[in-house]
Amino acid sequence: MKVTLSLEKTQSKDVSIVVDALRASATMTTAFNNFKKVIPSFTPEEARKIAKTENAVLAGERLGKKLDGFQIGNSPEKVENYKTDKDTLVLTTTNGTRIMEAMNSTVLIGSFINGKAVAKKAVEIATTHIDLVMAGRKHNFALEDYLACGEILYWIKKELKSTDEISEYAIGSILASRDEENFKESILNTHSSQILKKLGHTEDITYCMQKNITNNVVMYKNNKLELI
Ligand code: MLT
Repeated sequence: MKVTLSLEKTQSKDVSIVVDALRASATMTTAFNNFKKVIPSFTPEEARKIAKTENAVLAGERLGKKLDGFQIGNSPEKVENYKTDKDTLVLTTTNGTRIMEAMNSTVLIGSFINGKAVAKKAVEIATTHIDLVMAGRKHNFALEDYLACGEILYWIKKELKSTDEISEYAIGSILASRDEENFKESILNTHSSQILKKLGHTEDITYCMQKNITNNVVMYKNNKLELI
């Protein structure tokens, strides 16, 4: 098995794990504790249209801020605890949902909160190649995604044989993610965290930094997310 780490574009035609640690991956993962169906959308306009036809709750953000007319922003806990009798959620986010568009591999959603579970599933499903895809910020590197990939890769490495090939970039992220003493403080100081803190979303950062609190694993297929 080949295991790689990429920024935005996946290298794999086999299995890709999309990681947007703050906050889209966690929101997609926890949404299934409250909704039966979760539909990702690439633009707010499209999300509004889908929500009408599907009688769905609308969640999403642009630059961290809840969108006009949307019931919820991109907060994993608010999505999980939102009181409604509707069973469908439509979600649109700045980076997280966007990078899933046009992927031609099996796409899983990964984060700190389900690192171990998503790693196990990826190893189970993949035949030749697992690529971890960092959503990043505006097409650039984001430390929180690198560290969350490191957490997932740590568990993937445990599942694999010594003959499997893990790229040096991926190994680097595993080593960085093991620095338990500094990882939370480093994430709290990232550019993404600064924005979220300014907008009053510190509790979401704290939530998203928790490791392995759920076994939910979400797959993106045919423009829908599904729990597997
Ligand atoms: C994104 O998809 O860009 C992020 O999840 C933004 C956010 O934290 O809301």
